Amino acid sequence: MDDGMSDGQPTVGRVLVVVPTYNELESLPIIIGRVRAAVPAADILVADDNSPDGTGALADELAADDQQVHVLHRPGKQGLGAAYLAGFAWGLSRGYDVLVEMDADGSHPPEQLPDLLAAIGAGADLVLGSRYVPGGSVVNWPKSREFLSRGANTYARIAMGIGVHDATGGYRAFRASALEKLGLQEVSSQGYCFQVDLAFRAIQAGLRVDEVPITFVEREHGSSKMSRAIIMEALWRVTVWGAARRAQQVSGLVRRKG
Ligand code: GDD
Ligand code: MN
Repeated sequence: MDDGMSDGQPTVGRVLVVVPTYNELESLPIIIGRVRAAVPAADILVADDNSPDGTGALADELAADDQQVHVLHRPGKQGLGAAYLAGFAWGLSRGYDVLVEMDADGSHPPEQLPDLLAAIGAGADLVLGSRYVPGGSVVNWPKSREFLSRGANTYARIAMGIGVHDATGGYRAFRASALEKLGLQEVSSQGYCFQVDLAFRAIQAGLRVDEVPITFVEREHGSSKMSRAIIMEALWRVTVWGAARRAQQVSGLVRRKG
């Protein structure tokens, strides 16, 4: 069976793993070591928002020791979405074939990255690492956080009429050619709703979106940057996107009838 790998190396072309960081001093060296061990051919780009704890300086030290580690310094905390957009632009301009999203805190096991890349190798344009398909799971989350995440996904599915099970997750692989079709210059999502935004854009663009099961493990070091503002932004944007899609569907229906 062609699993998109040969000798443990992806046959999907050049892979860039973009890791956004804000105060991830303890986690960063661990995640970089694990990515380098799990997928040695992949390069890493740390996109740091001038973390007060010095994560950016540590990233520079790690990059100085390893040609496959790169750092993008951003002036201040501008949100996960903005960090990824800058990281993607960095990677696309350098000719990477696959761009991966991965949290710095160890919640997205790098050991499962070959599964995501295999799905790209099998023809997917976007692969969602999914907690909520059979085989996927969440480890060590408080019930309240799992309730919020599952609720957000259910709301996104119903409001926007999308079929995916984990639209809010942040462990994914994009084919570069797919990213280029998503109109990234128009993306204004700042917080975690960036994930829903891009999944929705990919579906609307008619791209092949696959889900593979992942095990999300809550972080051991540092703390989550999830906030009430991030939740509120997700709520209003998903509602607006959903309403726009419904309006589109209704006007299509009216046109067909008239
Ligand atoms: N550069 C930058 N700027 N990085 C950020 C920012 C920011 O403003 N905010 C968060 N990050 C980084 C964190 O340092 C971490 O590497 C990653 O983004 C995820 O942040 P967490 O704060 O650990 O997120 P979480 O565990 O609460 O949320 C997870 O679940 C969400 C809901 O499913 C993540 O996987 C999210 O991507 C996901 O949307
Ligand atoms: Mn986390």
